[in-house]
Amino acid sequence: MKRFCTLATACLALMLAGPALAQAPIVIKFSHVVALDTPKGKGAEYFKKLAEERTKGRVKVEVFPNSSLFKDGEEMEALQLGSVQMLAPSVAKFGPLGAREFEVFDLPYIFDNFDELHKVTDGPVGKKLFQKLEGKGLIGLAFWDNGFKVMSANKPIRMPADYKGLKMRVQSSKVLGDEMKALGAIPQQLAFSEVYQALQTGVVDGTENPPSNFYTQKMFEVQKFLAMTNHGVIEYAVIVNKKFWDGLPADIRTTLEGAMKDATKYTNDIAKKENDDALEAVKKSGKTEILVLTPEQKAAMKNALVGVHKENESRITKPILEEVYKAVDFKP
Ligand code: LMR
Repeated sequence: MKRFCTLATACLALMLAGPALAQAPIVIKFSHVVALDTPKGKGAEYFKKLAEERTKGRVKVEVFPNSSLFKDGEEMEALQLGSVQMLAPSVAKFGPLGAREFEVFDLPYIFDNFDELHKVTDGPVGKKLFQKLEGKGLIGLAFWDNGFKVMSANKPIRMPADYKGLKMRVQSSKVLGDEMKALGAIPQQLAFSEVYQALQTGVVDGTENPPSNFYTQKMFEVQKFLAMTNHGVIEYAVIVNKKFWDGLPADIRTTLEGAMKDATKYTNDIAKKENDDALEAVKKSGKTEILVLTPEQKAAMKNALVGVHKENESRITKPILEEVYKAVDFKP
């Protein structure tokens, strides 16, 4: 009798757990380094919503914002190893992976506006860049916008000479390091999550980022001046682990691709306003003075930085560079 009971209990437990086991959702861990209240933060939440709704719960997207799971510098490896399934790093983070061509987006003054940027992300160059990832166990799904970068420091920075000797935090991109060197500054590579403290303690003197990051990371508390240089962009590539993605049931993958397409449109539609609003919020804080550059100051900055293009021609490769120049009608 005892034996029967044990068997019956086990059978009942299995019968009850069976359907639950069969329906265990596919989990996508989506790690990123910025705040929720940014274009990427909101885009990730929107993708989660669409993916979960449209797969009727067969997929669960766990979003980890603000470097809460991995810092930049760690997250690429985590994705390749399958510890996370989805990331949206800025294109400046692809160099260490050996996909240096992504740094084309970091080149100074290459895009005048979002339309020009989209000619590249939505065109043949965008596709070519994603092809570079397949041999690295990754798949590129979409490009997401953040915005145009501004420079900050604790002294007014209007002309190239003002940057001389400043320690400026940059992402892990050679192009960005070269940009700071061209201004006479000293580039310092740091993880995004460490920037606030580094600025606060004087480990670095200044930095560059779009207003959305500057505001949501509270950098305005520790930087007195923000120069509206708009000298480059922060663009993201949403990427997934190839083995995971290829292993998904075909109907689920198609649904997720649709969700990503719509989340991409949503993110890129809000990016400009998010940055405009963040700049307003910085102004309102009264802690950081906004420096609007005169046409002469802008021209001087451009003049000082344009050499970075030539310097990085072989890194980005001439064919990619020429294709981008042609798409956006840029003459260095
Ligand atoms: C940075 O490191 O400054 C940015 O890449 C952070 C981000 O993801 O926007």
